[in-house]
Amino acid sequence: MSLSYLPLWKQLTARGMTRGDLQEAIKASSATIAKLGKDEPVSMEVIERICETLNCEISDVISMHNDMGSSDSCRGSKTANCQDLIISDGEGYIDEVWEIPTKANTTYLTHGIYRYIGKFPPQVPREVLRRYAKPGMTVVDPMCGSGTTLVEASVAGCNAIGFDVNPVSLMISEVVATQYHYDKLAALASEISELMKKWTTDSIFFDPASIPAKTKVSLGKSEIYFSEEAKEKCENILAWISQIEEVPYRMFFHVALLAILRRVSSANVKKINVTVDHDKKVKDVYQEYGKQLNKMLDAEKESAGAWGDTELRVSQADARKLPLDDESVDIVIIHPPYLSNTAFSEMTMLQLAFLGIDHKQIWKKELKMRGSYLHETDGLRKYLIGWYRVLQEAFRVLKPGGICAIENGDGQIDYVRIPVGAITREYVQDIGFEIKTHAVHKMNNNTGWTLSHRMKDQHIIIMEKKNGNA
Ligand SMILES: C[S@@+](CC[C@H](N)C(=O)[O-])C[C@H]1O[C@@H](n2cnc3c(N)ncnc32)[C@H](O)[C@@H]1O
Repeated sequence: MSLSYLPLWKQLTARGMTRGDLQEAIKASSATIAKLGKDEPVSMEVIERICETLNCEISDVISMHNDMGSSDSCRGSKTANCQDLIISDGEGYIDEVWEIPTKANTTYLTHGIYRYIGKFPPQVPREVLRRYAKPGMTVVDPMCGSGTTLVEASVAGCNAIGFDVNPVSLMISEVVATQYHYDKLAALASEISELMKKWTTDSIFFDPASIPAKTKVSLGKSEIYFSEEAKEKCENILAWISQIEEVPYRMFFHVALLAILRRVSSANVKKINVTVDHDKKVKDVYQEYGKQLNKMLDAEKESAGAWGDTELRVSQADARKLPLDDESVDIVIIHPPYLSNTAFSEMTMLQLAFLGIDHKQIWKKELKMRGSYLHETDGLRKYLIGWYRVLQEAFRVLKPGGICAIENGDGQIDYVRIPVGAITREYVQDIGFEIKTHAVHKMNNNTGWTLSHRMKDQHIIIMEKKNGNA
């Protein structure tokens, strides 16, 4: 059994109180409030003081969860804390507010392996699956990004299918949701670490005798971001990777290289768009690769045993036309590019270049609005039509009674707010879904977006497939 103070946080939200207000009202120490925040036991006297102050029952303060039961929202996770997602009542047609506190752990299991710009907190798909998934079900994410949904589906005991148009995203998704043999990864990591040491002491250049073939990359327009030395070093690592026989392991080490490209190039690391940062102190390829491998190995070690005995399928497809039969899946979770997003192909142009792909090729296939596309007069119309088709396709592949959950944000064009959440409500009802929950995902991070108010509300809409007209 584990303890949760979720009812207490709901009480506070309903009364417009902060944790600081509570601390003052019950005259508690900061340590006691911290314990409450971490779902740790506090004395009965503290609980009594809370009940007296808020004039409520113990059940309005504490709830107990059976850790083995399917209703535990922390199920499957070794390190996530139930307090990482606070849900309270909403207003109007928004029936819930989902808040991920700044201190929430969003990198547990393999979620922190790759810093994919635009990923959603794992708590979002986890809560959806906690409510609706049963082991053995099939969960699809048609725009899987860095595989967040796929990891959560696997630990919930569900078969996971991910699609994306971007090959970088497919590689990351495959790696984060694959169950590896840790010892095999560690042995390979130690082999490349030794080689990198040798290459560093011998010469910065590649020793052709040490591995079979050299992998030369042609980076096209992205060439300007890499020094000759950085490129050579990346090529040495790539050549070593190319001789790893088992594809999933090869992919693991390849993704580790893609993860460091921004740091080892002159591309800025603070902004989303890839532009040259002339003042940047560029990091060394071998050192960064070693660090990245350590981080990934730690995550794999921590996650060992968390995965269910489930199937994983990741492949390239357009979310508007999925290679899936009608009525074949139980749950669809969709987190599309937002209206105000830079196109994902642009954000991943360096990684795509290292795969030999010009990002413009992917750009043509994406659902997007920003980028040079923004200046097309019918950009908004194209985005909304595309989004409607994605939702229609989710309806088609879902079994009757199946659940679709989406997270999308209200965008802004030329200072005008576009209410994508409200538009999505209209769309899904038109398609034949019945809305079960419409939550606002409150953003607590201090990112440029939140601060500049370009993106204020993110909507989570959970709906059920009823017999409709799609
Ligand atoms: C917001 S991200 C998803 C992030 C994901 N939830 C995660 O946590 O990593 C949106 C993804 O949609 C993909 N995408 C854009 N247009 C697409 C399309 N037409 N079909 C499939 N995927 C698409 C992008 O490449 C990007 O990876």
